[in-house]
Amino acid sequence: MKKRIGILTSGGDCPGLNATIRGVAKAAYGLMDCTLIGIENGYKGLIEGTYRELKPKDFSGLLTLGGTFLGTARTPFKKMRVIEEDGVDKVKAMVENYKKMKLDCLVTLGGKGTHKNANLLSEEGLNVIGLPKTIDNDIYGTDVTFGFQSAVDIATEVIDRIHTTADSHDRVMIIEIMGNKVGWLTLHAGMAGGADVILLPEIPYSIESVISAIEKRCKEGKDFTIIAVAEGAKTLEEARMKKEDFENHRKTWGYPSVAYYLMDELNKKSRFETRACVPGHQQRGGSPSPYDRVLSTNIGAFAAKLIDQGIYGVTVSVRNNDYVATPLKDMAGKTKKVDPESTIVKNARLIGIKFGDEGVK
Ligand code: F6P
Repeated sequence: MKKRIGILTSGGDCPGLNATIRGVAKAAYGLMDCTLIGIENGYKGLIEGTYRELKPKDFSGLLTLGGTFLGTARTPFKKMRVIEEDGVDKVKAMVENYKKMKLDCLVTLGGKGTHKNANLLSEEGLNVIGLPKTIDNDIYGTDVTFGFQSAVDIATEVIDRIHTTADSHDRVMIIEIMGNKVGWLTLHAGMAGGADVILLPEIPYSIESVISAIEKRCKEGKDFTIIAVAEGAKTLEEARMKKEDFENHRKTWGYPSVAYYLMDELNKKSRFETRACVPGHQQRGGSPSPYDRVLSTNIGAFAAKLIDQGIYGVTVSVRNNDYVATPLKDMAGKTKKVDPESTIVKNARLIGIKFGDEGVK
């Protein structure tokens, strides 16, 4: 019997979404008799019933295309069961539209929030498969997510380019890197770009320790310093605050983001001329890297195999260079963080990279 496969992309866009959709479609067409239904703008489209039947030709030209041709939106999990002003019961609407579209299954491409919603729909009895997308690489249960490596490449290029100005002007240059509340992107781009100081949410820092690192470099005759700071990095004092106190503190902080805070502190408390650079959404833009094209194609094709075998309620994970199905219920709601005691952090310390916690009690 012909299978009807719904597909949507949810949360922030990133390189590799289209390549993954293409992987699902091409493998599905090869494995079974099927129709793919593209749902627009993520769960929003599933709630509102905006979708279209896709044809094989719709999947051409997608491998290298950035963003998502289906559109995306953020639909927070915590609001899914809340009836808002429009009076719409979102969960009921999604289940009804799934049935209206006569879907056999739904493939949802997205990050942590998307997977929580996927798990919710799976608990509602729908056949769902999640696919792990995010530049943050924070999805639990998978070694890597598609979009991450492309973002590492972009952020690394930013650091590479900043090096020349830092060196020419003997400046401290701060590059703020995305990654939400985890430091994967900053750690990898920081190491790839040869950053001297890397500040991560998982390793709270002190300004004094950062200044000592810069001073030490100066004593060694290195008159510039590159600091890669994660957008979610916190000082020791901030890390000790209760969630609510931290949120209030940041509301009255007066800085657009952490790079500007750090720049201000260094300009006030040290003798070093400091500048901040925030590449922002560029890190999510453009064509996927070759690594991500291969990863996306594999993840998409693996998902098609699961659909063919009728295996649902799972996400496709990468573990030890292989592709496996992980139950949504085991990973939804969990975050994969950088372990401060991991080999990569220890190796970074071994080559002299500072994390802003040195000499801190
Ligand atoms: O999750 C991807 C991400 O780019 C994070 O790194 C960042 O914190 C967030 O999304 C930015 O979200 P928005 O695009 O909604 O501003």
